[in-house]
Amino acid sequence: MRDENPIRYDPDRGVWDVFRYDDVKRVVREYELFSSSTNFQPGDDVAGGQDANLSAEKNESESGLFGEMLVKTDPPKHDRIRSVVAEHFQADALQSYRPRVETIANELVDDLKRGRVDLVDAFSYPLPVDVIAGVIGVPREERATFKRWSDALTDVASEPGDGDDLTQPEVMMQMGEYFQKRLADRRESPRDDLLSAIATAGDAESALSDREAVSLCIILLIAGNITTTNLLTNAVWSFHEHGILDDVQTGAVPLRPAVEEVLRYRSPLHSVDRVARRDIELGGETIEAGDYVVAWLGSANRDGRHFDSPDEFDPTRRPNDHLAFGQGIHYCLGAPLAHLEADIGFSALFDRFEITDVDTNDLQRSPSGVYGLEELVVTLA
Ligand code: HEM
Repeated sequence: MRDENPIRYDPDRGVWDVFRYDDVKRVVREYELFSSSTNFQPGDDVAGGQDANLSAEKNESESGLFGEMLVKTDPPKHDRIRSVVAEHFQADALQSYRPRVETIANELVDDLKRGRVDLVDAFSYPLPVDVIAGVIGVPREERATFKRWSDALTDVASEPGDGDDLTQPEVMMQMGEYFQKRLADRRESPRDDLLSAIATAGDAESALSDREAVSLCIILLIAGNITTTNLLTNAVWSFHEHGILDDVQTGAVPLRPAVEEVLRYRSPLHSVDRVARRDIELGGETIEAGDYVVAWLGSANRDGRHFDSPDEFDPTRRPNDHLAFGQGIHYCLGAPLAHLEADIGFSALFDRFEITDVDTNDLQRSPSGVYGLEELVVTLA
């Protein structure tokens, strides 16, 4: 597609697909041209032009709390919401989470046993859920509930009514009620956690509405879970596949750039969506106002126009300016946290165990829309 059809309209899905690095970067960055609000309709910009999320609010009953999600908002609303938590996710602030993340990683590793283990179930899944629960300030014991919520929201393969699966509206309602209660508690008696920061944010003008505050908690809880799970699993899978797992475990191949290469080579989030705010010329095509656009990050990250030997896994690749965390104003808020989890999680694991084998027979894709594996059985010694 990159060579032959880099920008194409797919009539079956009713969307434009964009495949090349430079084009994907433009679509993702240029928020004045491409709205993140998937309820955006042409004309929303015209009336006063202050808040481009008008349709999201108009369609509130349909989109529910999703319409309020940070990642689905445009400036100025986006900037107002993001500023409430931005500093808590910057690299400096994250250093204060280090001991908490180390404790969580060590506890998980304590529970591992030698022999064959599903890495997803035992390590890659619980680590990010526990970490974000700790950072937000919700008790660890409620992890099982979060897992159910997270699964129900990301499991595109499950149909409503499957077993005891919750439907997405049910999950949103349960999470909404849950966080509303917790935020009310923190307003009464603030603590040193993110819930308190959100509950007590700003002055009267910049304060978050109840719905915005609840949505922010929800996106923080779900955005970093399945993505980081797949990063951790894809890392072990890729290191094994490319014969460097031993060297990564001993430290002969440095972890940080190797993880960066995993983000490029097997990007957990393959695509992000936008809506054209006006008619836009892109690569000789005219995308019309109101059209949906899918920017393929996973494809951009393998574009030979930008990366040398794009299909080679090079754990020391430099520079490695992949788009796995997006670009511009929506650049992943949790990117430093995801890196911290990979650093600390793998250090804890490799300190105590050696992965001597990885079973790559019959690998199954994760049922979520995120790119990774449903399970990865490894042998721990
Ligand atoms: C390897 C792990 C992760 C990957 C690949 C990833 C990927 C992304 C991408 C591509 C975006 C941009 C979406 C867009 O432009 O439409 C994004 C945004 C976001 N991510 Fe992550 N993410 C990861 C981990 C996390 C973690 C751990 C958190 C924890 C809080 C998080 C929270 C967010 C939030 C809140 C946004 C929205 C930012 C905004 O709209 O301003 N992510 N992420």
